[in-house]
Amino acid sequence: MAEQMKTLQPRIVLGITGSVAAYKAAELARLWVKSGIAVDVVMTGAACRFIAPLTLQALSGRPVWTQMWEGAQDGMQHIALSRGAQAIVVAPASADFLARVAQGRADDVLSALCLARECPMFVAPAMNVQMWTHPATQRNVARLRADGVNVLGPDSGDLACGETGEGRMLPPEAIAAAVATHFAEETAFGALLAGRRVLLTAGPTFEAIDPVRGLTNRSSGKMGFALAQAAAQAGAEVTLIAGPVTLPTPPGVARIDVTSAQEMADATFARIDRVDIFIGVAAVADYAPAAPAEQKIKKEASESLTLMLRPTVDILAELAQRAPHVFRVGFAAESQNIAVLGEAKRRRKHLPLLIANRAQDAINADDNEVILLDDSGAHPLPRMDKSLLARRLIREIASRWHQWKKTNS
Ligand code: C5P
Repeated sequence: MAEQMKTLQPRIVLGITGSVAAYKAAELARLWVKSGIAVDVVMTGAACRFIAPLTLQALSGRPVWTQMWEGAQDGMQHIALSRGAQAIVVAPASADFLARVAQGRADDVLSALCLARECPMFVAPAMNVQMWTHPATQRNVARLRADGVNVLGPDSGDLACGETGEGRMLPPEAIAAAVATHFAEETAFGALLAGRRVLLTAGPTFEAIDPVRGLTNRSSGKMGFALAQAAAQAGAEVTLIAGPVTLPTPPGVARIDVTSAQEMADATFARIDRVDIFIGVAAVADYAPAAPAEQKIKKEASESLTLMLRPTVDILAELAQRAPHVFRVGFAAESQNIAVLGEAKRRRKHLPLLIANRAQDAINADDNEVILLDDSGAHPLPRMDKSLLARRLIREIASRWHQWKKTNS
């Protein structure tokens, strides 16, 4: 089966939208066909006004799709075309098309295909400089990036409208090279933790006071979920022990939902012997009510209420004793002296790596700025989006784990 997969011809769906740069898409199709890639071309109505579908049909040697309902045996070509494709590349991508995809529209064959895709998507914008720099277009592009779409270009230079500035579609060779580089990087990333088992904790915990109330914190779980996703993309077998959050489970990740610190500890200890790497991202409660009430506590207006708290088990610290053979990574959110306090925590919990950040920045945010602390010192990373940061951290963790393994086996 694996051998059969290797010999299958790679296939790209090339989307063409309404822009003068549409003629350059013909060259892009030719480049891919020449390098052995099958190209399925999908054109919007506006694209057909700039270049004839027949040209693309001749170059690709395959039917060109221009209508939602044409030639379909079962009316499902908007889904079928993207299945098994390595990528959808829309070049040129007009301002209108970017807006439509950013909104999740599906009323023409190309945007429906983009919405129904499982594969990576690239867009190469091409438009007048004012259209490109307009806040609406920039909003749409930011939305697309956040949705995981790769935006290639645009270039600066003379534009078809006679004006000069940003908005030229990248040359076909540059688009083909960017797509090839992306796949080479993905392949390398996908091998980083191949065959390794990674266990993570993420999110807050909830410590019951009575059947309806409890103590918790503002952790969103986003960083832990992003790390679980990146670890799975890096080829690892990933188990994610999640506190109470409503985030969707990343593809390819086995999820175990827990509520309290004790449940999180039990779930971790039960699995720790079977893993290579443990990443403790959860904001585990340090204290829990010593004796949660079985019935709802009634309000006694005149009296103050005292809650007796007991310390919870420190999962990470405990793992230094229980599982010294596992590469253990901790997180620390500090409100000040991040590097100093983080390093003290790293030593106290006997961790080869601790990732420290400012609590005010990290909690509930979409981006984060962290410092890696290990035996060789402090290594700050620039601020970035949590999903990008997660991939960077998985690279850092994988390379340290390989080193650590050499001296700890
Ligand atoms: O809460 P603290 O700052 O000590 O958390 C640092 C690290 O220890 C985090 O990675 C967190 O997931 C972990 N931790 C734990 N069990 C606890 C408290 C913290 O695993 N009870």
